[in-house]
Amino acid sequence: MKLVNAPIISNTEVLPNIYLLQARAPEIARLAQPGQYVMVRCGEGYDMPLRRPLAIHRISKDGIFLFYTVVGRGTAWLSQRESGERVDMFGPLGKGFEIYPSSSNLLLVAGGVGIAPLLALAERAIDSGLKVRLVIGEKNAAKIYPERLLPPGIKPVITTEDGSLGQKGMVTDILPQFIAQADQVFVCGPLPMYQAISKTGKKLKNKPTQVLLETVMGCGVGACLSCSIETRQGRKLVCKDGPVFEFGDILWDKIAAPACSGRC
Ligand SMILES: Cc1cc2nc3c(=O)[nH]c(=O)nc-3n(C[C@H](O)[C@H](O)[C@H](O)COP(=O)(O)OP(=O)(O)OC[C@H]3O[C@@H](n4cnc5c(N)ncnc54)[C@H](O)[C@@H]3O)c2cc1C
Ligand code: FES
Repeated sequence: MKLVNAPIISNTEVLPNIYLLQARAPEIARLAQPGQYVMVRCGEGYDMPLRRPLAIHRISKDGIFLFYTVVGRGTAWLSQRESGERVDMFGPLGKGFEIYPSSSNLLLVAGGVGIAPLLALAERAIDSGLKVRLVIGEKNAAKIYPERLLPPGIKPVITTEDGSLGQKGMVTDILPQFIAQADQVFVCGPLPMYQAISKTGKKLKNKPTQVLLETVMGCGVGACLSCSIETRQGRKLVCKDGPVFEFGDILWDKIAAPACSGRC
């Protein structure tokens, strides 16, 4: 894990209220694995003492990309940073995705900004000669990840709730079409999407499935216990034992969506 004060190369609003930040941080990039995250200082001095966890979206030789929605004070502050400024972060942190040596076909399922950690995984898989199917679900066309930013060779399957792009409906509706060909499934999205998948568990047909969990995190290093969850394998800390877990290990009816913890 490295603590860096990384120069911002670019920080652009690529979708309404959603930003793509590229930071020069070769020390973190060298160690980063898809599914890991960084803790980013999102404010000055005592105004915003706690860092915010953000997934590593893409990994390049000399840095990392973050893809984030502005939801509160911290991410709003981050969105105002400009190229040439610096952003203080430490990482990479946590347990990332694991591609099994026997897998050759991967199914990646992204709900909303859940595409953030899946792009690094897609790039890693393609570089290793694996086949990647990316399914993206969003509310409407205006929120779909720009195709020009996808790694070459990835043609996503898109669903929108209002039918303004791709197939109309929820991403979970079309999963069964792609499960059979997949050796492994990787999911990242909002809690209701996970709960919908778990309620219709047959859709996964017992495929090995990994999921990235988002909880409120105070420290990112196992010290504050704010990210503790109960799983079928006992109590786990999302920051250290995750954020990637086996889908079947999560007790979905006991997980709550992150709410404001008053940390700001
Ligand atoms: C491992 C991990 C990786 C993440 N990766 C990304 C990413 O790549 N892109 C991205 O946009 N977001 C990501 N998040 C969520 C991100 O950390 C929060 O959106 C962020 O901390 C909000 O900070 P804030 O100060 O803007 O909002 P706050 O003022 O702290 O909170 C505003 C509202 O945001 C929501 N919120 C707060 N914390 C979280 C959280 N941890 N997860 C989800 N919603 C939250 C709550 O509804 C809260 O009321 C990730 C979270 C985790 C745990
Ligand atoms: S975030 Fe502090 S223990 Fe996990």
